Amino acid sequence: MSARPEIQSKDGRLGILLPGFGAVATTVVAGVEAARRGLAKPIGSLTQMNTIRLGKRTEERTPLIKDFIPLVEMEDLVFGTWDPIPDNGYVSAVEAGVLDIQHLDALRDFLETIEPMPAVFHKDYVRRLDGPNVKSGRNKMDLAEQLREDIRRFKSENDCARLVMIWCGSTEVFLRTGPAHETLEAFEAGLEADDPSIAPSMIYAYAALKEGVPYANGAPNLSADVPALEALAAENGVPLAGKDFKTGQTLMKTILAPGLKARMLGIDGWFSTNILGNRDGAVLDDPDSFKTKEESKLGVLHHLLQPDLYPDLYGNLYHKVRINYYPPRGDNKEGWDNIDIQGWMGYKMQIKVDFLCRDSILAAPIVLDLALFLDLAKRAGWSGVQEWLSFYFKSPQTAPGLYPEHDLFIQHRKLKNTLRYLGGEELLTHLGLEYYDD
Ligand SMILES: NC(=O)c1ccc[n+]([C@@H]2O[C@H](COP(=O)([O-])OP(=O)(O)OC[C@H]3O[C@@H](n4cnc5c(N)ncnc54)[C@H](O)[C@@H]3O)[C@@H](O)[C@H]2O)c1
Repeated sequence: MSARPEIQSKDGRLGILLPGFGAVATTVVAGVEAARRGLAKPIGSLTQMNTIRLGKRTEERTPLIKDFIPLVEMEDLVFGTWDPIPDNGYVSAVEAGVLDIQHLDALRDFLETIEPMPAVFHKDYVRRLDGPNVKSGRNKMDLAEQLREDIRRFKSENDCARLVMIWCGSTEVFLRTGPAHETLEAFEAGLEADDPSIAPSMIYAYAALKEGVPYANGAPNLSADVPALEALAAENGVPLAGKDFKTGQTLMKTILAPGLKARMLGIDGWFSTNILGNRDGAVLDDPDSFKTKEESKLGVLHHLLQPDLYPDLYGNLYHKVRINYYPPRGDNKEGWDNIDIQGWMGYKMQIKVDFLCRDSILAAPIVLDLALFLDLAKRAGWSGVQEWLSFYFKSPQTAPGLYPEHDLFIQHRKLKNTLRYLGGEELLTHLGLEYYDD
């Protein structure tokens, strides 16, 4: 970032494209419509509810973020989706079981109008799932072209000024970056050659970036977190963000761990286990999909606690994460954490957390905020990885060579300072010496 960018007009409709129309995606769509009809508040969304302090404390300037920086209004949002399961928004939301039937019935007329387009899907990447609403094509490049055509058609049919895409599809099996991901040329050759290391989520990301549509990945699979797609984002001037929405247990972890570290308390062990019974839980019951999630969840504490800088406090930390598929719970997950900590003279203490959490209720406002902030970034002329949106992710994508910042409070400060910067206000350092000058 150098000179402060001019932000282009927010006028016109913004299309939010959601590959994957399951629990999270239907909860976002229903919640936005419920807010538009005055039936519910968009709780958890910074773009809708948070204020931002500007200038000195004595100036008492704390507008809502949306009144400070030009963001698209909820009235101007339209939604498009793809899913191998052809259910419309109402049927899919009932199946997901996140929202009460009374809430859904009040929105039924609207939810039924949203039907998923045929997906780019292959069972090799999400083994516990199958569905008939799937595209077929000559090769992966042909499938990418079909998605690009969907994007253009959606934009014109819905009279959108701009679009963003947020992956809300299932967690794909664990993949490492390989030769096909290294450069854009290799990636495009891989699409032509049906290279197995190119997963469906990468094909969506490629199609979005080619169409100049900002892309965020709410799942832990690689998707756009590969050099080839980062290069495409830079080349086409498109913002990018990922990976894996920060909800539930990891949200708790990134709230608690920075607090314990701030007080220089040691941590010997952190055992996290979950039960959940939704479709995501069924997918994560496959060890290869779980491995993708596990890598994402495990990275958090290591980066946050910096054991190399604090070997006495965190050098022997034992961190274990378990996810257990347990159908009776549906989307209402329960997550337990046992944290073994050490204080003065090495005396041991324990913290137990039992979070009866609704994952999709925590994820939905993230999707809304990411859509509005990615559109803002695009209008500001920013491209490539948007690290200031790390606040929303379990595995924040960063520039090559940078370690990700996981501390929720640092992420929050960075997000707000980025908004102050875009709005031409002074950044807050919290030094505050001026209040004590004579
Ligand atoms: N719920 C949360 O709080 C949360 C938090 C972090 C990450 N996530 C991730 O977000 C994603 C969505 O979660 P969910 O609870 O809505 O899961 P879900 O299983 O209810 O929905 C996922 C949907 O994606 C569809 N899908 C799978 N492959 C697809 C493809 N190639 N193209 C289009 N659609 C495809 C599935 O058919 C399904 O309907 C998952 O990857 C999950 O791990 C969720």
